Amino acid sequence: MQWFKNKRKQIAKALPENSALILGSLPEYFRQPDVPFPYRQDSDFYYLTGYTEPHCLFILKKGQSRSSSCSILCVLEKDSIKELWDGERYGPKKAKDIFLMDKADSINNLDEVLKKNLKGISTIFYNSINPQFDKKVRKMKLKIKSARDFLAPFRRIKDETEIDFIKQAVKVSVYAHKKVAQALKSGINERTLHGVFLKSIMEKGSVREGYHSIVASGSNAITLHYTKNNSLCKKGELLLLDAGGEMNHYTADITRVYPVSGRFSKTQKILYEKLLSLQKNLIKEVRPHTSLKDLNKKMIEGITHLLLEMNILKGPFKEHLKKKSSLTYCPHSVGHLLGMDVHDPPFSRSEESVLQPGMVLTIEPGLYISKKDLRAPKSLLGTGLRIEDDVLVTEKGPLVLTKSAPKEVEEVEELCCS
Ligand code: GLY
Ligand code: MN
Ligand code: MN
Repeated sequence: MQWFKNKRKQIAKALPENSALILGSLPEYFRQPDVPFPYRQDSDFYYLTGYTEPHCLFILKKGQSRSSSCSILCVLEKDSIKELWDGERYGPKKAKDIFLMDKADSINNLDEVLKKNLKGISTIFYNSINPQFDKKVRKMKLKIKSARDFLAPFRRIKDETEIDFIKQAVKVSVYAHKKVAQALKSGINERTLHGVFLKSIMEKGSVREGYHSIVASGSNAITLHYTKNNSLCKKGELLLLDAGGEMNHYTADITRVYPVSGRFSKTQKILYEKLLSLQKNLIKEVRPHTSLKDLNKKMIEGITHLLLEMNILKGPFKEHLKKKSSLTYCPHSVGHLLGMDVHDPPFSRSEESVLQPGMVLTIEPGLYISKKDLRAPKSLLGTGLRIEDDVLVTEKGPLVLTKSAPKEVEEVEELCCS
């Protein structure tokens, strides 16, 4: 819990005088009045508290002097009947002691807590994600700024502990990717493979996947956020697996492409190797001061070259760049920051998107050829490819955290046949 306390100290330092940061926990969603969906704490909330129960609110108050900060956590009260059904709660006393807060109170006393603790405060940095608290907070009639925007620059830079958590998430995810590749065969349902992934990450200590896994065989891989995961894998097709497990609230985000029959066809191999070569070149560009915008530009140029080499596009390179022809075949960007959320706090403006040491980002060029494409060879229609690694920005150059996930053609084929 000391780690969270240190983070609070760092954030308190950055808060302006006479301001407060107010975070509501993510609301619980119910399928039926007594049947909640699985709960996961809001990432900003967890980042500063470590608290995983729902229906609570956190205040970090900054007074007039540099050192005068105060942390207050309002939580669910102890309730023996509720706890009998839903499990033990910390309650305010334990919440204060275990989570090293300056103060804790019952969430039922929120009105009084706000009134008492926001005296003299002029601005609040607030996330209004929980409508249950909104009325009470807004009633205070203080100037409101976005807590998400305030915290994003801190969350974008990972310290050693966070990098270690991402490495743990990568480790379980690579293990699970390998299990899926080994289970892959003609006739197996994508959903069964999704099950293999979930079983494998959980076997290694992960509580959940960090985002809904994309288990997409054949032309399903063209749907960028395909989540139905319910088709049979067919001989000769490729399986695109975009899946990452979560460890300590940090996630991996890995995409690999596996041939259903264990071997890439000749044309699949040519296309895959070209994309892989581009992906490796893009990774080499990951260093401090490079911007995501530049990386994106390089990806677009690379994809355009590739499409010309494959004779899918014809004509002058520059004209295709001007026409943005590559967008038809790769409509997404080169990658995104990664951490507690799979799309970790994004840069607010593209001109600010400059990489710094401690950032972790994905590099994930893809190629998606529609079944109706008029320019590509017939054998590639309905093909979706993406290769995605998680890369730590360091002064010494890119550190590929996911390097243990096979991606060379020979390695992938060997894995699928093992
Ligand atoms: N898994 C979602 C993404 O790669 O952005
Ligand atoms: Mn990604
Ligand atoms: Mn992904």
